[in-house]
Amino acid sequence: MRAASVTAALSFALLTGCGHPQSMFAPGGPAADNLANLGWFVFILFIVVAAIMWVLLGWAAFRRRGTLEEHAPVDVGGGQPWILIGGFAIPFVILAAVFVVGLDAMAEFPLEGPHETVPADIRVTGHRWWWQVNYIKGQLDQQVTTANEIHIPVGRPVDIDLTSDDVIHSFFVPRIHGKVDLVPGQTNRIRIQANQPGVYRGQCAEYCGAQHAHMILLVVADLPAQYDAWMARQIAPAEAPATEQQRRGEQLFLSKACVLCHTIRGTPAAATVGPDLTHIAGRLGIASNMLPNTAGNLEAWVTHAQSLKPQAVMPDVNEFTGQQARDLVAYLQQLR
Ligand code: CUA
Repeated sequence: MRAASVTAALSFALLTGCGHPQSMFAPGGPAADNLANLGWFVFILFIVVAAIMWVLLGWAAFRRRGTLEEHAPVDVGGGQPWILIGGFAIPFVILAAVFVVGLDAMAEFPLEGPHETVPADIRVTGHRWWWQVNYIKGQLDQQVTTANEIHIPVGRPVDIDLTSDDVIHSFFVPRIHGKVDLVPGQTNRIRIQANQPGVYRGQCAEYCGAQHAHMILLVVADLPAQYDAWMARQIAPAEAPATEQQRRGEQLFLSKACVLCHTIRGTPAAATVGPDLTHIAGRLGIASNMLPNTAGNLEAWVTHAQSLKPQAVMPDVNEFTGQQARDLVAYLQQLR
């Protein structure tokens, strides 16, 4: 009974990392395949080495001891080959094997330097605490800015330049690729690719302050037709308000503090302190994917950002009446 509960507890402990949304053991692209293989290799090697060590330790502890006379003191001053074999030769072989396999994984891990002459497809800039995403390939009028959600076409490699606006962050979508830092004043490049359509969750992986844990990123791998449709929508300016309520919301947005920090292309709002909101309604989450993108969450975020995400740049905008907050949300929700 006791053994059963210990086994159950151990299984739960060991399996907690196996949920799919952010598990490196559920790879969804070539770079992640590589890292998952390396992870399994090291993990299995560790299990084997640990098992052998425990068996040897048990054998040493419980073997039948003879009398003192049978075991005359032995000279351990270098005469014991086991010390050389177990303490040096075997660890050397194991570590050398891990090193070689690791080098091989690194060689396949497509990470280019900023010297790369081919321009990247996307530039991602880390901010405390959100991700600015600029599609920088092609003509200026084809370039778009969004936030916290990166769409990529499935099955195609996409090059991303990573940099930071403030402190060091780290870009990590475990099912797609390994971790790469976003360093202020420096550009690191990474190539990502997703094999299957879907949403891949990522997370800032370098402690960057109070809301580090709420700096979440989604990579959405679209089928080619969906991707083209998404891109066409992003290139277009914001949709004009259609209803009276949405028009009132737009007026509030443009006359209150919102306009000091955000851009909505197609309106006079053109500030770049916070995320570009031109197509915010098309995104899955808000507040760097801390909350699902719903009317209730939008209203809570606009009016109580500091309670939800203390120290974020987004202030509590508490000058709105309830009706005004709903008008504003109605406007934001039609920015598809
Ligand atoms: Cu950004 Cu941690």
